[in-house]
Amino acid sequence: MTNSQSHRKDEHVFLAEKFYQSERANDFDQLRFIHQSLPEIAFDEVSLTTKIANFTLPLPFYINAMTGGSPRTGELNRQLAQIAATLGVPIATGSQSVALRHPELMATFQILRETNPTGLIFANLGATASVDAAKQAVTMLQADALQIHLNTPQEVVMPEGDRDFHWLKQIQAIVAALDVPVIIKEVGFGMAQKTFKQLLEVGVQYIDVAGAGGTDFIAIENERRKARNMAYLRGWGQSTVESLLESQFYQSKLTILASGGVRNPLDIIKALRLGAQAVGLSGTILHLLQKNGPKTTTEILLDWKEQLTAIMAMLGAHDLTDLRQKPIIYGTKLQSYIVQRQL
Ligand code: FNR
Repeated sequence: MTNSQSHRKDEHVFLAEKFYQSERANDFDQLRFIHQSLPEIAFDEVSLTTKIANFTLPLPFYINAMTGGSPRTGELNRQLAQIAATLGVPIATGSQSVALRHPELMATFQILRETNPTGLIFANLGATASVDAAKQAVTMLQADALQIHLNTPQEVVMPEGDRDFHWLKQIQAIVAALDVPVIIKEVGFGMAQKTFKQLLEVGVQYIDVAGAGGTDFIAIENERRKARNMAYLRGWGQSTVESLLESQFYQSKLTILASGGVRNPLDIIKALRLGAQAVGLSGTILHLLQKNGPKTTTEILLDWKEQLTAIMAMLGAHDLTDLRQKPIIYGTKLQSYIVQRQL
């Protein structure tokens, strides 16, 4: 059992990389800023600081849930934790449920805390986790927050996946019982207005919309087997941009994080403009890491800090609050979405 679950973690990494396309178009391309020729600002007047719960982040992005559960993904966790420590950004682990069932795999997750002793670390489990399991996952990493992932399309495509999606009560119980922030996240299928309402009603305060446009778990899970081909479901869900638009009426009541299909610093700025408090990266960081190794990846991401500052300056945005006032226009596809969804 351990072997098959470990193997699945390795396959996820392999297939995410196989399907990754750095130049792939997505809905971030449907959003344009209006250029201002006289922004009247200097680079050193730009602040990239943001907050999630009581945590102040120097940079508005984080490494999102991916790895752990096999020797290979344990090593990736070590490299990612090193990158997170150097940059001072939060890092989430991949789902720890495998380590709760097979304690011999805990080390492949705990390497995050060993490598990054003082950084912000997010634990991760699925929505069927018991309150006890949720507490154990946090303790395992001395985690600062817990992510609970929602992934019905992935479960549907997996023959061994869950078939009962009564998840809200369990989410409510976990949020009530934990003394760290609980972040509810999708895994690349995005969210709709109703989901924000449902989550708000059970006491959730932190949500990562994790929209479509990047890693597609339908494509990944489908590729893992030949029988029962459901590849026709690829592309399911709302994009990250659409999900952020869906979230706009809830942004004063909830802390909205965004991830899914973020390819570069401009995508980060666009997500922040649409109301995200911080932006998560998975597929892109995994790709950079596997293509360039940890040292060059760290250098690339350190340079992203300069690039984020540069784009903010070009826009005349002093900070994230200021950025949200900057004019944008939508492409026709997004405009149609906005009209049909009455956003
Ligand atoms: C993931 N993702 C994920 N999410 C989660 O909550 N628990 C998990 O265990 C995993 N595992 C995982 C493995 C791999 C290899 C990848 C690439 C991703 C989903 C991830 O956190 C994110 O929501 C989606 O990948 C969408 O973001 P990107 O990849 O488009 O930036």
